[in-house]
Amino acid sequence: MKKQILNDGHKIPMLGFGTYKATRQEGVESVKIALNSGYRMIDTAAKYENEEAVGKGIKASGVPREEIFVTTKLWRERLGYEQTKKAFEESLAKLELDYLDLYLIHWPANAKNYDNWQEANAETWRAMEELQEEGKIKSIGVSNFWPGHLEALFETAKVKPAINQIEFHPGYWQPEVTNFSKEHSIVVESWSPLARGKVFGNSVLSQIAKKHGKSVAQVCLRWIVQHDVVIIPKSTTPARIEENWNIFDFELSEDEMKKINEMPQMGFSGELPNIWPDRV
Ligand SMILES: NC(=O)c1ccc[n+]([C@@H]2O[C@H](COP(=O)([O-])OP(=O)(O)OC[C@H]3O[C@@H](n4cnc5c(N)ncnc54)[C@H](OP(=O)(O)O)[C@@H]3O)[C@@H](O)[C@H]2O)c1
Repeated sequence: MKKQILNDGHKIPMLGFGTYKATRQEGVESVKIALNSGYRMIDTAAKYENEEAVGKGIKASGVPREEIFVTTKLWRERLGYEQTKKAFEESLAKLELDYLDLYLIHWPANAKNYDNWQEANAETWRAMEELQEEGKIKSIGVSNFWPGHLEALFETAKVKPAINQIEFHPGYWQPEVTNFSKEHSIVVESWSPLARGKVFGNSVLSQIAKKHGKSVAQVCLRWIVQHDVVIIPKSTTPARIEENWNIFDFELSEDEMKKINEMPQMGFSGELPNIWPDRV
């Protein structure tokens, strides 16, 4: 599996496994199936309420812990120095792990919810830097951060975020956030790489998929990887888990990349970092 080198020297696989909405036994089973199919990265979050299931799936797979890249995230209602430390220990205990590969701030504090959003993010980050320093987390990063959030964080950060996980799929791929992150050596990771199925009827994607003898889902994933962006598609369906894995045996041409880049906005979740908890 191709990997990207993070700005802290650690490596992240280009393709991992998403787990949003995969809870309880379904979560355990799907993580086990993914790991036994070859996936070596699992993405969860405190908010998904499935960290226990993910931990159990990892154990049940029999794959050695050190071979797996595990990510979880700090929920946005727990920003702040003390809260972060506490939330991190809770997540680690639920996962039944003794270290994390990647810990992300799930959403930045914003002006709508905080009198001093810059300080809330900075204090959260300070706690994460300490946890990394103590060896409890290998890499630390952010999610849903726009350039303004990152610039503010840079003012006080000792360590640069290694990752920015953002909504990125055909029809909504935030080129400005992507370019800004990459310019600052922050690897971009895509969430909802399949737009949760909302772009599957698009004719540009269908035609390209037909030409390559691939599914529309595989074309979406391949297009993202060719942008040097890490993907974490979620599925609890064994055949789809396998299908999403098989995207490294074909390549999209420059023209095909351009056609997908230029698709009008579609499949957008409606979630924006500056207005949460509301949606557009
Ligand atoms: N940082 C953030 O704020 C944030 C936000 C959202 C998500 N995430 C992370 O990103 C991961 C992926 O995003 P997501 O779960 O929102 O959406 P997604 O991966 O774009 O789509 C998942 C949906 O697509 C279906 N699917 C998967 N593979 C398919 C295939 N080959 N053909 C047809 N349908 C397929 C799945 O159905 P079945 O499961 O029924 O097969 C599921 O309903 C999440 O699981 C989570 O780990 C992070």
